[in-house]
Amino acid sequence: MKQIKTKDGSFTFFNEIYQEHYHSVSGALEEAVKKHVKPLNIENGMKILDFCFGLGYNAIVATKGHKNLKITGLEVDSKIIKEIKFLEVPEEINPEFVSFRDLAEKFEIKDRNNNLIKLIMGDALQTIDQLSANYFDRVFFDPFSPGKQPEMWSEEIFKKIYKKLKPGGRISTYSCARWIRKNMEKANFIILDGPVVGRKSPGTIGVKK
Ligand SMILES: C[S@@+](CC[C@H](N)C(=O)[O-])C[C@H]1O[C@@H](n2cnc3c(N)ncnc32)[C@H](O)[C@@H]1O
Repeated sequence: MKQIKTKDGSFTFFNEIYQEHYHSVSGALEEAVKKHVKPLNIENGMKILDFCFGLGYNAIVATKGHKNLKITGLEVDSKIIKEIKFLEVPEEINPEFVSFRDLAEKFEIKDRNNNLIKLIMGDALQTIDQLSANYFDRVFFDPFSPGKQPEMWSEEIFKKIYKKLKPGGRISTYSCARWIRKNMEKANFIILDGPVVGRKSPGTIGVKK
């Protein structure tokens, strides 16, 4: 696959099946920082579900400056995981990326700050059922867009994710579409506006009651 440089200098890819980039072309790294990691206030020792792991930008940014995280990544496509090995990354996440590159072969790594990242490969709509209830503090929810992949954004999947979160746990996503927020509300999430990054509309943060 061919790396595509986004406006903040970090790289993404284009998915031919969904005809969509893996990240906002306004900045792949920026999107991870501003749409997911910062608004979710990550703290040491948290358990994080990275729903649609891709190149793992959200996970790698979460590990920066943190220790003892337990990150579980769900991903269906082993080709994108293989790309982690040789991905060019900006200077600011280069140190974190050293051990992260081994994910391409090992599917489970621990970095020098005792952050554990474990991948579960397969369709996230199914593999989510393997996870424990009331276990996660945070969820990065990052499938392809609702228009391209509506099955990922259903009330049913938000209900499943809700169960996996601890009370007070939070989910981040880049979409603010009305029907997505409705599905999240039906799953019992409290809905908050996320930050506006790259596009004109805000993302969405859901909080478990
Ligand atoms: C928008 S990209 C995610 C980008 C990623 N969070 C990152 O930081 O690089 C969407 C990802 O979801 C994955 N995906 C699509 N359908 C999936 C499914 N049913 N189960 C698990 N992963 C899926 C794709 O392979 C792709 O890597």
